Amino acid sequence: MIQDHYIIIQNDKIANNIYKMVVEGDTKVVISPGQFVNIRIEGCFLRRPISICDWNDKTITLLYKVVGKGTEILSEMKPLTKLDMLVGLGNGFSIKDSKVPMLIGGGIGLAPLFGLCRRMPQKTVVVIGADTQRSLFFVDEFKSLGADVIISTDDGSEGTKGFVTDAIKTNNIECDYFYTCGPMPMMNALNTYLPETVPGQFSLESRMGCGFGACVGCSIETTNGVKRICKDGPVFYRNDLRNECHKM
Ligand SMILES: Cc1cc2nc3c(=O)[nH]c(=O)nc-3n(C[C@H](O)[C@H](O)[C@H](O)COP(=O)(O)OP(=O)(O)OC[C@H]3O[C@@H](n4cnc5c(N)ncnc54)[C@H](O)[C@@H]3O)c2cc1C
Ligand code: FES
Repeated sequence: MIQDHYIIIQNDKIANNIYKMVVEGDTKVVISPGQFVNIRIEGCFLRRPISICDWNDKTITLLYKVVGKGTEILSEMKPLTKLDMLVGLGNGFSIKDSKVPMLIGGGIGLAPLFGLCRRMPQKTVVVIGADTQRSLFFVDEFKSLGADVIISTDDGSEGTKGFVTDAIKTNNIECDYFYTCGPMPMMNALNTYLPETVPGQFSLESRMGCGFGACVGCSIETTNGVKRICKDGPVFYRNDLRNECHKM
């Protein structure tokens, strides 16, 4: 992990309340998709964690949804503004051998799956869930990576009407491995829907204090004992979350 100042080079609205920010700076400590940054925002006591959507040797791309004071302030920042960020936090996704990998992202939870999709050696099925068509983002970006993109919207304005599990069912998708990030109810539904024999990885969220393992404010119980979402996660194997998933 490093703390450094990053320069905003892009900060644009790309969908309903969703922004894409690109920052320039040291990216050496970013080693896997699903890791996150923790951003200091003037006027907010705690830093705000945001997943790394993608990165290269000079820039980090973040996608964020405006939900409160911190993200509202972020959305108003102009290019060339300097951001104080902790970078390279958490354990991200591990790419596993599989024939038909499925990536399932709900809402802004789709963000870290892009960096993952770009690094997958094989073709993937990407299932995107949103409340409505205006909230969809990065559909073309995933398609440009060669992914088969399946969409569900709560109101049926695009793709299958309903939840991601409805879209998976309607499109008869059977996967042998999955990676997911999104709201807890979505991940709970997926956990119930997908056969127990299919392994996978869940990226979890919680309110965070420090973001690097010091305050124990983000602890959860796993089959391997108590773990910190920020330090041991945010990505956990399905097997390790047997108890947690049942509680979701
Ligand atoms: C590991 C991790 C990765 C994340 N990645 C992203 C990302 O890529 N893009 C993105 O937009 N957001 C992401 N988030 C969520 C993001 O951190 C929060 O939305 C943000 O901190 C809200 O700050 P705020 O000041 O705008 O809202 P606040 O004023 O702090 O809160 C506004 C509302 O949002 C709710 N809220 C805030 N944080 C969370 C949270 N973590 N989980 C559930 N509800 C919350 C609050 O309860 C409140 O109702 C991530 C969170 C974690 C823990
Ligand atoms: S947020 Fe402090 S230990 Fe996770």
